[in-house]
Amino acid sequence: MKDIATIFLSISLLFQTLNGVKAGFLCVDDTFLANSSYGQNRDSLFSSLASQVITNRGFYNASLNSVHAVALCRRGYERQACINCVEKAIRVIKTSCSDRMKSFDWDNDDADQVSCLVRTTNYSTFGKLGLGPATRDISPLDIDSSTKNMTLFRQEWEETVNRTLEAATVNTSVSVLKYYGVVNAEFVEFPNVYMMMQCTPDITSGECKRCLEECVTYFRDMFWGKQGGTICRPSCLFRWDLYAFYGAFANITRVPAPPRPFIPEAQAISVTSLKGKNIAIVVVPSVLHLFVLLGLIRAYRQLKKSKDETSVCAEEDCISDSQFMLRFDLSMVLLATGDFSPENKIGQGGFGSVYKGILPSGQEIAVKRLTRGSEQGEVEFRNEVLLLTRLQHRNLLM
Ligand SMILES: *[C@@H]1O[C@H](CO)[C@@H](O)[C@H](O)[C@H]1NC(C)=O
Ligand SMILES: *[C@@H]1O[C@H](CO)[C@@H](O)[C@H](O)[C@H]1NC(C)=O
Ligand SMILES: *[C@@H]1O[C@H](CO)[C@@H](O)[C@H](O)[C@H]1NC(C)=O
Ligand SMILES: *[C@@H]1O[C@H](CO)[C@@H](O)[C@H](O)[C@H]1NC(C)=O
Ligand SMILES: *[C@@H]1O[C@H](CO)[C@@H](O)[C@H](O)[C@H]1NC(C)=O
Ligand SMILES: *[C@@H]1O[C@H](CO)[C@@H](O)[C@H](O)[C@H]1NC(C)=O
Ligand SMILES: *[C@@H]1O[C@H](CO)[C@@H](O)[C@H](O)[C@H]1NC(C)=O
Repeated sequence: MKDIATIFLSISLLFQTLNGVKAGFLCVDDTFLANSSYGQNRDSLFSSLASQVITNRGFYNASLNSVHAVALCRRGYERQACINCVEKAIRVIKTSCSDRMKSFDWDNDDADQVSCLVRTTNYSTFGKLGLGPATRDISPLDIDSSTKNMTLFRQEWEETVNRTLEAATVNTSVSVLKYYGVVNAEFVEFPNVYMMMQCTPDITSGECKRCLEECVTYFRDMFWGKQGGTICRPSCLFRWDLYAFYGAFANITRVPAPPRPFIPEAQAISVTSLKGKNIAIVVVPSVLHLFVLLGLIRAYRQLKKSKDETSVCAEEDCISDSQFMLRFDLSMVLLATGDFSPENKIGQGGFGSVYKGILPSGQEIAVKRLTRGSEQGEVEFRNEVLLLTRLQHRNLLM
C-alpha cells in the first residue's frame, strides 16, 4: 500500500492532470414527468436489463408500454463485467437523464475491461439505424507532429480504419454481437495503434458501415492530431488509442508495419523491445549505483487488473517480470537530460528527483534518478518500476 501511495505521489509530481471529457452518455431533450408511468416503466425495464443481456448472449431489447430499452456488451465480454457495465450505464442514465425520454450511454470500464451500451427511447429503435446525436471522449494529448511524420501517420491510420471497418461489417451471423472489429497495428510512427468498432446487431451491415464511417469522419474532421478518442452514436461505437483498452486486444495478432526505409536507432530499440507494451521503463544499475527510470511521456494508460497492481515482487520475480524493460546506457540518459541539469528537473518523487529529457530520436522522456541509499531503497525502487509497467490508467500521463 505504501508503495502504491508513493507511486501516486511520484505520478502526481511527474504528470500533469488531464481533463478527459467523459461524454459517453447523452440525453435527448424531451422530458417526461418525474412521477409518470414512463419513468416507472423505464425503471421496470432497467431492473432486469443486465441479467437479460447475459441471457441473450450480449444484446437485448425490450419494451414496456411506450418505453423501449436496448442493451449490448462488447463481444468477448466477461459475464460479471458486462453486468456491472450495464448497471453503471443505467445509473448514469437515471442520474443524468432522470426525466428524459431518450438517452443512450456507451459506457466502459478500463479496469473491468468492458464496454457496453444502454439506450432508451419512447419508440422502438429495433432495426432502425440511429446516427445521431453523437458523443465523444477525445484524448487531451496531441500527437507531436515535430517528431512524427503526420502524412505517413494519416496513411497508416486510414489503412487501419479500413481494416477495422471491414472486420466489423463482414457479413456473418456467427455471433449475436456480429458487428465487431478490433485491430492492433504497428505503425512506422507508433509501435502499437489499437482500434475498435462495434454496431448494434439489429441493423444491416451497410447501415453499420455508414454509422462507423460517420464516426471516423467526425474524428478526422474535428479532432485530427489527437492521440486517440471515442465517438459514439446510438447504433455504433468507434474508438482508437495508443494503448490497449477494454482488454479487447489480448488475442489479436498485431498487423506489422510495412518495411521502412530508415529507422532511428533509439526508436528501433523501443519498437523491438517493448513486445506490445506501449511503455518503456528503464532500470540502469550504473557504477554510481543510480537507478534510472524512464517513462515515455507520450501515452496515457489503462489500469490493469487490481491483483496485478498490488503484487510486489521478490528479486527473482522482478527479473523474470522485467523482460520488456529496456536498458539504457547511463551516457545516453545523461545526454538526454543534459547531465541531469537543474533546468530539466520537473519534480521530486518518492526516492529521488525527476528530470525531463529528450532522446536522440526526439522522443520525450521522464527520468527518475534514485540516489543510492539503502538496499531497501533499491528494492522499493525496482518495485516501483515494475508497478509502473503494470499500472496503466487513461488519466495518468507518463
Ligand atoms: C408520485 O406517485 C406516488 C405513488 O403513485 C404518490 O404517492 C406521490 O404523491 C406522487 N408524487 C407526486 C409529486 O406526484
Ligand atoms: C427486439 O425487438 C424486436 C422487435 O420488437 C423483436 O422482434 C426481437 O425479438 C427483440 N430481441 C430481443 C433480443 O429481445
Ligand atoms: C416520443 O416523445 C416525443 C416527445 O414527447 C413525441 O413527440 C413523440 O410522439 C413520442 N413518440 C412516440 C412513438 O410516442
Ligand atoms: C513522410 O512520409 C511520407 C509518406 O511516406 C513521405 O513521402 C515523406 O517524405 C515523409 N516526410 C518526411 C519529412 O519524412
Ligand atoms: C479506404 O477505403 C476507402 C473506401 O473503400 C478507399 O477509398 C481508401 O482509398 C482506402 N484507404 C486506404 C488508405 O486504404
Ligand atoms: C448477409 O447475410 C444475410 C443473411 O445471412 C443475407 O440475407 C444478406 O444477403 C447478406 N448480405 C450480403 C451483402 O452478403
Ligand atoms: C483470449 O483467449 C483465451 C484462451 O483462448 C480466452 O480465454 C480469452 O477469453 C480470450 N480473450 C479475449 C479478449 O477474447
